[in-house]
Amino acid sequence: MIDPVEYPLQAINLVKRVEGTVTHTLVNGIDLAVRKGEFLAITGPSGSGKSSLLYLLGLLDAPTEGEVVICGEETSKLSSNERADVRLTKCGFVFQFHFLLPEFTALENVLLPMRTADILSSKEMDARAKELLGMLGLETQIHKRPNQLSGGQRQRVALARALANKPEIIVADEPTGNLDVASTQQVFGILRGIADSGQTVVVVTHDAALAAKADRRINIVDGKISATTVRGEAAHAAHGHGPADEAAGHAVPNGHAGAAPAPAPSAPAPAGRAAATAEAVPMPERTKAEESGG
Ligand SMILES: Nc1ncnc2c1ncn2[C@@H]1O[C@H](COP(=O)(O)OP(=O)(O)OP(=O)(O)O)[C@@H](O)[C@H]1O
Ligand SMILES: [Mg+2]
Repeated sequence: MIDPVEYPLQAINLVKRVEGTVTHTLVNGIDLAVRKGEFLAITGPSGSGKSSLLYLLGLLDAPTEGEVVICGEETSKLSSNERADVRLTKCGFVFQFHFLLPEFTALENVLLPMRTADILSSKEMDARAKELLGMLGLETQIHKRPNQLSGGQRQRVALARALANKPEIIVADEPTGNLDVASTQQVFGILRGIADSGQTVVVVTHDAALAAKADRRINIVDGKISATTVRGEAAHAAHGHGPADEAAGHAVPNGHAGAAPAPAPSAPAPAGRAAATAEAVPMPERTKAEESGG
């Protein structure tokens, strides 16, 4: 059993199939363990199954086979209400399109998940929402509705909303897909900071330069991990179920056998991490040979 405190997000042989006239396998046997405070990027071609995987990891969808373990809790056995509870308190989701409620202000949008969770008093909720929006540079925008905000501002409100219930895990599906370069950098910087503060961040992105800022990048092809890159190392082609997977009987912490662990969340001082990421450590591009060699 992998330590759920060290690895709050684990996927064990995750499979998602959709039955129609033909059966589509969207996610095809993913083993993954994401460390507390790790920033994991998921890349891969369009249609490879990235969003499908992310929806499973964020409990927005249920797998056909396999297990998602959130903070030690095996979620496949939960009722849909129980899953919704785990999702509400443990997972924050950010989408490519912000999905803010248009008739509500920024502040009200951030308050919503806290009101649903119903843990804090309304005064505490209000204070937390304002603190989050302030942290994201939106203190002067809190009473605006989404259509009165820029794309980058909207996406930061969506981030504040995702963070509202202090989830251990943040999953984001192309959160910068619609943003300009400056807003993209800003949103990624915020996500990096969230991971540095100890939350686990999983982001789908098409942007290789952004993926290079993650602690680890997994590339998905045809619903499988085709390659894994740990920051500062060369890419490793995936071996499917390699010897280490079999020995462990489930996910290998870094998703592949033999790789050095991703940086421990507590190891680098925030300033050191910030300095390292500011340089955008180059991450080798996966090669065709690596892709097909798995
Ligand atoms: N409900 C469904 N029924 C059948 N096929 C589906 C369904 N949902 C998704 N797919 C297919 O599953 C594959 C994976 O979709 P997914 O959205 O996960 O891809 P993606 O990697 O996120 O792509 P993109 O980069 O374009 O967002 C695609 O080929 C898609 O057409
Ligand atoms: Mg997608």
